[in-house]
Amino acid sequence: MILIAGGAGYIGAHTNKILTQKGYKTVVFDNLSLGHKEFVKWGHLVTGDLADIQQIRSCFSKYSIEAVMHFSAFANVSESVMDPAEYYVNNVSNTINLLNIMKEYGVKYIIFSSTCATYGDPEEIPMTENHPQNPVNPYGRSKLMIEQILKDYDQAYGIKHINLRYFNAAGADPDKEIGENHFPESHLIPLIIQAALAQRKEIKIFGTDYQTKDGTCIRDYVHVNDLASAHILALEYIKKKSNMSTSFNLGNNKGYSVKEVITAVERISGVKVNSVNAPGRNGDPVELIGSYQKAKEQLGWFPEFNLDQIIKTAWDWHVSNIDSWKNKKH
Ligand SMILES: NC(=O)c1ccc[n+]([C@@H]2O[C@H](COP(=O)([O-])OP(=O)(O)OC[C@H]3O[C@@H](n4cnc5c(N)ncnc54)[C@H](O)[C@@H]3O)[C@@H](O)[C@H]2O)c1
Repeated sequence: MILIAGGAGYIGAHTNKILTQKGYKTVVFDNLSLGHKEFVKWGHLVTGDLADIQQIRSCFSKYSIEAVMHFSAFANVSESVMDPAEYYVNNVSNTINLLNIMKEYGVKYIIFSSTCATYGDPEEIPMTENHPQNPVNPYGRSKLMIEQILKDYDQAYGIKHINLRYFNAAGADPDKEIGENHFPESHLIPLIIQAALAQRKEIKIFGTDYQTKDGTCIRDYVHVNDLASAHILALEYIKKKSNMSTSFNLGNNKGYSVKEVITAVERISGVKVNSVNAPGRNGDPVELIGSYQKAKEQLGWFPEFNLDQIIKTAWDWHVSNIDSWKNKKH
């Protein structure tokens, strides 16, 4: 059985679906603070909080857990700047609870949702796994701290880990069963789509005078199902090479500016989106693009969805779920 911590959230739910399709048995552990019960359509759901050691323990004693995929976290950069305490407690301290129960139950494998935010401002583009890790916001620092803790738990207790450092997750299940529904939403593609669907008035462009092709920030978008597939490859890899803990970047090796993404959503949706310029945000690197060469060589992973396909799946999911948004204000 694979334990998916945070499996009612966006990326965890998509991974749950693909794990199940590949024949894995899963149990989702989630407090539903940010995730959705309706997204747990596969496997078992344990509603529990990683802050509560007893709840984690009772989940491990009920199910025979072979490996953990750990998605559970707070992940909003601006919020982490304003309230770092929340981030260090939920991301770092609660991960330690999970690891301690893994140790107690002799569970040896963890696939950890890390992030390109552990790198900070790029010294080279595209960024490889060897890029220095100097995060520029508490969110990135909380994830780097976990990577460091995982290293120590490997050396001392033999718990093997793979850090998957995602760039910007986006897109939705092409079957439209699940999608991206953060509340409040802070991710660019769903924000633009919500503006195109008149669920919000406009989209704010944070920073328009950066040293980039059109002055706006550049990010690398990777489809959520590509991330999900990487988790399964990572799980198979860690089981085969059980003495190997390591890290992989998961990105598309391509960057798109905020304005380019807005134009692409307008083209795919056929709707013109209102945008307003706003000042750049603290702790926001100008450009993030990830090399996936190492994941390709060692996991056989490569991203299958390009930006247009990412946007199309996201658009289709949002359109098919428009009714569930009707009464929500943004
Ligand atoms: N979305 C991205 O672009 C992105 C990029 C890089 C890394 N990541 C990382 O990937 C992971 C998943 O991201 P997501 O976008 O799916 O986020 P999400 O908010 O949709 O999912 C996180 C899930 O964790 C659960 N959770 C939070 N705290 C919990 C706790 N204390 N106990 C139990 N459950 C708890 C939430 O209810 C939610 O279901 C996060 O760790 C995030 O840092 C995401």
